[in-house]
Amino acid sequence: MKSTADLISMKNNDRIVMVTAYDYPSAKLAEQADVDVILVGDSLGMVVLGYESPVQVTLADMIHHAKAARRGAADTFIVVDMPFGTHHTDVNEGIKNGIRLYQNSDANMIKMEGADSFDVIRGLVKAGVPVCGHLGLTPQHFGITGFKMQAGDSEQAEQLLKDAKALEAAGASMMVLEAIPMDLAKKVTETVSIPTIGIGAGIHTDGQVLVYHDLLQYGSDRLPKFVKPYADINSVAVEGLTNYRNEVKSRMFPTEETTYKKRVYE
Ligand code: KIV
Repeated sequence: MKSTADLISMKNNDRIVMVTAYDYPSAKLAEQADVDVILVGDSLGMVVLGYESPVQVTLADMIHHAKAARRGAADTFIVVDMPFGTHHTDVNEGIKNGIRLYQNSDANMIKMEGADSFDVIRGLVKAGVPVCGHLGLTPQHFGITGFKMQAGDSEQAEQLLKDAKALEAAGASMMVLEAIPMDLAKKVTETVSIPTIGIGAGIHTDGQVLVYHDLLQYGSDRLPKFVKPYADINSVAVEGLTNYRNEVKSRMFPTEETTYKKRVYE
């Protein structure tokens, strides 16, 4: 399995491939595909649990799903998200929640959205917890920002660059940049010495991340602009389920081969 140091050393040498996964089968397939990092993201709330946003996802949900992902991917570096409301209100509470998540989830790093948790990050790093930041579009703030591109003017871009430097100074080992203009992502990537992982941030980041259910079109029906679909599980699954339904209705299933034939009644 890669270490935090391995990921940092990939900056400028190799692209870092990150994909989300939330359970045993999705993590197992991601590991088989040899991705560098699995993110147990709080997008879990939308793509697995059917919520409108990640706001309802709890610390217990994240621990539960990260442990399942770990059982599917024993040899892959796993990052797990700190969910909504667990790190913004109080520094000590944030540090305690981060330690609880790291200790109980079997993940290798925890990720935290926003530019307002630098003290929490410092405390966690001091305690020995590797941290990934997340700037730009931060879906936990969707009630305020909506799901749209961020940092679109020069003042906001300057602020994001400052936040990226502050994240690095606080001890973050990596950062996700979501839905920001490509030239800003490039500038951040050239400025900080830790890897940047882009999603909707263009080609210049040190790595890319996509949501499993989006890139494989699995249960998702509306894809953001920045997603390229690489498979269509929706149609394969619906075709299989429809065939099953039709064969049960027409008594074509079960077949002889799928039936136990030992006689127990005369
Ligand atoms: O929760 C998530 O899946 C994420 C990615 C979109 C980066 O944070």
